[in-house]
Amino acid sequence: MRLFVSDDAAAVACGADAVAARADALGAEVVRTSSWGLHWLEPLVEIETDDGRIGYGPVAAADVDALLAGELEQRRIGDIASHPFIRRQTRLTFARAGRTRPLSLDDYAATGGWAGLEQARAIGPEAIVQQVTTSGLRGRGGAGFPAGIKWETARRAAGPRKYIVCNADEGDSGTFADRMLMEGDPFCLIEGMAIAGLAVGADKGFVYIRSEYPHAIAKMEAAVRLCAHLVAPFEIEVRVGAGAYVCGEETSLLNSLEGKRGEVRVKPPLPAIEGLFGRPTVVNNVLTLAAVPWILANGGPAYADFGSGRSRGTMPVQLAGNIRHAGLFETAFGLTLGELVHDIGGGTASGRPVKAVQVGGPLGAYFPPSLFDTVLDYEAFAARDGLVGHAGIVVFDDTVDMARQARFAFEFCAAESCGKCTPCRLGSVRGYETMARVLAGEDAAANLALIEELCETMTFGSLCALGGLTPYPVLSAIRHFPEDFAR
Ligand code: NAI
Ligand code: SF4
Repeated sequence: MRLFVSDDAAAVACGADAVAARADALGAEVVRTSSWGLHWLEPLVEIETDDGRIGYGPVAAADVDALLAGELEQRRIGDIASHPFIRRQTRLTFARAGRTRPLSLDDYAATGGWAGLEQARAIGPEAIVQQVTTSGLRGRGGAGFPAGIKWETARRAAGPRKYIVCNADEGDSGTFADRMLMEGDPFCLIEGMAIAGLAVGADKGFVYIRSEYPHAIAKMEAAVRLCAHLVAPFEIEVRVGAGAYVCGEETSLLNSLEGKRGEVRVKPPLPAIEGLFGRPTVVNNVLTLAAVPWILANGGPAYADFGSGRSRGTMPVQLAGNIRHAGLFETAFGLTLGELVHDIGGGTASGRPVKAVQVGGPLGAYFPPSLFDTVLDYEAFAARDGLVGHAGIVVFDDTVDMARQARFAFEFCAAESCGKCTPCRLGSVRGYETMARVLAGEDAAANLALIEELCETMTFGSLCALGGLTPYPVLSAIRHFPEDFAR
């Protein structure tokens, strides 16, 4: 009997290794695959049958004997590829998720791998950048800057050496798409980096991965070794961060890569002109680079066919927090927040009413259900003082205290601030103290007025997004949930 069990860290955290070991001990052939991203069903086991792969989940190690004896029908999910959660998705970047073995070059090539790189080699730098520009691809790390313009800036910049840096310091709460991609489809990221290298004239790339991602680090290191000959002369090195959220900010990441303290640099100069070791450098998030092989293989216009407004293509949305169907949902921009939380996510896991969602990580705004008609689109979120960011959606039920969440935003900023500028370094601490007074019921009106003023200073006076965006969760909590601040 042949079984498929994911070796993704989320599956492993739920007990997938023990499930695989038990199945192996019982004589089954166990194939470790990437994860489909249906996290609430992990460990998910698929059994090969004459009718295709049939999924069961969640399966604990203690269930494996019954599963192999055909006595676990109550956990039968059926064909995973036709599960509504998968069928409703548009998987371009995550097309291989759940289907292939992460480190199998055969599986990668058999599912269209390297077609984008081949096309890139055939058309050359200018046409590559043209395809990426036409696709409308924007930076998936959060800022949404057009990738084609960034690449063109680096392509035109003069320099004896240029670099491609992949930002895999995925620090936002509720996000895991970068990790899943690196663990599940590492060659796709490598292919995207090699294409970026060809486009701008760089022959060296770095993947900067947060130390909290040991599985992703191991997979990327193995994948880089396995396919070095296929991407040569482009070379990739994997570098491991040391646990600072701010090292996801591109200039502090570059400092960290250079062996310096992870402190934010003043821009300009832009990294695309003067980046790593002072050389022109493209810094892109994992998902931006991993979208590129599909774009080159299928053409920029095909990618631009998906989406809404100026947000083209697809976004791998990560459903997390108190949500029934937590997992990865890649979709064309254009769904509403309500569809994502209720129709796809199934509402809260606790069964209680949804009170708030935070989109875009710890610096993202809290949205109440009255804003659930907001469309997933960079401009639509910005118009409501929110962020799509890295598209992590964290759901809270009605037991959450939004005043505590507002205090947490300041606390987080104080803990993670690099300390370079005053509004963030001091403002976060004063904000935490002032919000603590609100929580203690001390003159809420006067203290909230102080917070508003402080937030204005942080927004306009901070050097980077950490201090500059902390007001988003604070002010959205105050604006949308005033009852929680009247102690
Ligand atoms: P930014 O708007 O300063 O820059 C965006 C990107 O465009 C940068 O790479 C910048 O170098 C580049 N750029 C800007 N103008 C350019 C030009 N004319 N030519 C070439 N390149 C140009 O935003 P920043 O500070 O890099 O990112 C902030 C975002 O990061 C936030 O919106 C937030 O959503 C996101 N974020 C993501 C996290 C994650 O874990 N993925 C964590 C924290 C924040
Ligand atoms: Fe550093 Fe905060 Fe200033 Fe950013 S806003 S440069 S993290 S002190």
